[in-house]
Parts: sequence; C-alpha cells; structure tokens
Amino acid sequence: MLKEKMLNALNEQINAEQYSALLYLSMSAWFSEKGLPGFANWMYIQYQEELTHANKFFKYVVERGGKVSLKAIEQMPTEFNDILEVFEKTQAHEQHVTSLINNLVDIAFEVRDHATQSFLKWFVDEQVEEEANVQEIIDTLKLINGQGNGIFMLDREMRQRVFVDSTAAAAE
Ligand code: FEO
Repeated sequence: MLKEKMLNALNEQINAEQYSALLYLSMSAWFSEKGLPGFANWMYIQYQEELTHANKFFKYVVERGGKVSLKAIEQMPTEFNDILEVFEKTQAHEQHVTSLINNLVDIAFEVRDHATQSFLKWFVDEQVEEEANVQEIIDTLKLINGQGNGIFMLDREMRQRVFVDSTAAAAE
C-alpha cells in the first residue's frame, strides 16, 4: 500500500507529465505553423513520449492499489519568439521535471518505500537522457545561429525521429 504522502506526490507527477505532453504538443503546433515539419515531428514524438511517462506513473499507482486522482492541466504557452527559445524553454522544463523526480525519490526514501525507489530509477535515468538530447539541439542551434541553410538541414534531420515506446521495452 502506498503511503499518503507518496501517493499524493505520484498523482502530482501524473499531472506534471500530462502537462509536459501538452506543452510539447503546443510547440509542435507552433513549428507546423512556422513551416518547420521536422521540428514539429520531433516535438510531436516528445509529446507521445510524455504520454507514456504519465501512463507509466498511472499504471504504477493502480498496481500498488492507490487511487489515481487526475487534476486539471495548467494552460501551456502557445506562442514563442524563435526556435532557440522553444528549446531553451524545453530544457528549463526538463530540468524542472528532473527536480520533481528527485523530490519523489527523496519522499520514497523518507517513507521507506523501496518499491517506489526501484520504480523511479527508470525516470532518473530517463531525465539524464532527455536533458542531454535537448542540450545537443540547443548547441547545434547556437552554432547555426539562425542561418537558413543550417535550419533547413536540421529540420530535415529532425524529421527522421521516430516514436519508440521505451516504457514498454522497460516493462519486458
Ligand atoms: Fe517525462 Fe520529459 O519528462
């Protein structure tokens, strides 16, 4: 049985992951509108990944016999100034999510919930990867420095990204 403090924090995390999903879907829409289908694709896949994160928490709470309490999702931004700003906002958001995951780990230790500690390890590792991936794009965008050819090439590269449900692979 999940302790109340742990359950509440896990429910908050479902909301945070759902917010992340819609934040990236909003960014995908912005890129589509700007005529950048590769960036839009990258963000759409990011949206799909975040849904799998929310669902992984959802299933875990249910599996542990806890009650999932879904909450309203805060309004996400819909307008951005430029491509770099979108990815800097993405990175800031991922750093925030990392701090939420770290907080969950702290609570799991505090209430001596070993199962949740073990469950959260996947997310600790995932956050390292997420932040590294976004940083790589930020570094490339800074090198390109708004130059049209570079943006065009990067957009084409980002069109190649395909969705892989890494939470399903981890469950096997
Ligand atoms: Fe689910 Fe991007 O953190």
